[in-house]
Amino acid sequence: MSEKKGVVLFVEDEDPDIDVFQGEFKDDYEIRIARNEQECFSELKNKSDLPDIILLDIYWITTSPSGEETRHPLGIEILKKIKAERCLDIIPVIIYTRQGDATDALKIIKEGGAQDWIRKDGGKYEKAHRIDSWIKTKRLQEELRQKEKELVEERTTRKTFFEIIKAFANAIDSKDHYTHGHSERVAKWAREVARRFGLYSTEIEAIETIGLLHDVGKIGIPDNILLKPGDLTNEEFEVIKKHPMDGVSILRPITYIREWIHLVRNHHEKFDGTGYPDGFKGEKIPLGSRILVVADSYDAMTSSRPYRKMPLSSEKAKKELSDKSGTQFDPKVVEKFL
Ligand SMILES: [Fe+2]
Repeated sequence: MSEKKGVVLFVEDEDPDIDVFQGEFKDDYEIRIARNEQECFSELKNKSDLPDIILLDIYWITTSPSGEETRHPLGIEILKKIKAERCLDIIPVIIYTRQGDATDALKIIKEGGAQDWIRKDGGKYEKAHRIDSWIKTKRLQEELRQKEKELVEERTTRKTFFEIIKAFANAIDSKDHYTHGHSERVAKWAREVARRFGLYSTEIEAIETIGLLHDVGKIGIPDNILLKPGDLTNEEFEVIKKHPMDGVSILRPITYIREWIHLVRNHHEKFDGTGYPDGFKGEKIPLGSRILVVADSYDAMTSSRPYRKMPLSSEKAKKELSDKSGTQFDPKVVEKFL
């Protein structure tokens, strides 16, 4: 194995077997010896320095006071205790026994949860092959667990991020009671249109997020302009026109959406180039912004506004989108929206 040497915990009471194993593998693995149960668990105490594999002898020889030797399957008791510790479940426990005890070994694999067995009296390469395979498997499982953990953390962070963004969007909408829920609806429609365009999931998510935040710059618009019931003067309209740029300034510190904030900047561009702030025309306007313009306008038309108490019906608003397709709106976006 080219990577870090595998760490083998060799749980064995018989010195000759220990000597043979060390003689065969001292250069290949870091070998830790445990001659009894106590030594075995003391090796497993430090959870940040656990072995990659446990080789466990099943039959242990005990000597009576009269000097009589008997074989006991003490390895099974050790196995049970190892398996009872959840944090050790990733370490493969391999029964290490002689060919003559093969039936017992298979029974222990089936009932006791050992992963495999290796013949003490097998050849060096056969043993090495099995040990290496199990170490490799264990390390891959560890990597997988780590990746899984990172994914869960990433998902939690994204979830928290979205909750904060929604709270932010609600704060913007609450400034103007006419636009209650506006950002969430725009985000929802924009997401659906983006999905119909067959965009990547990251792009769809970005467009949805920007849908929630597109009007964040309105936070700086004085109420007497934002909530004005009548027509705006040119000066007042100039103040309104600042909100996409103000939104960009507010959102720039948020790294998650940094590469998407140009969609905020261009959410009032018109397809024919008469929008603001850049006056971009046609496909020069980012697709996400072209989608947001349609979703934003549709919601504005179908909800009450200071300048229009009665919202348009969905049919009338859709007709308006069709009528302005090619001038105010991108025809392809209108088609997907309808
Ligand atoms: Fe806006």
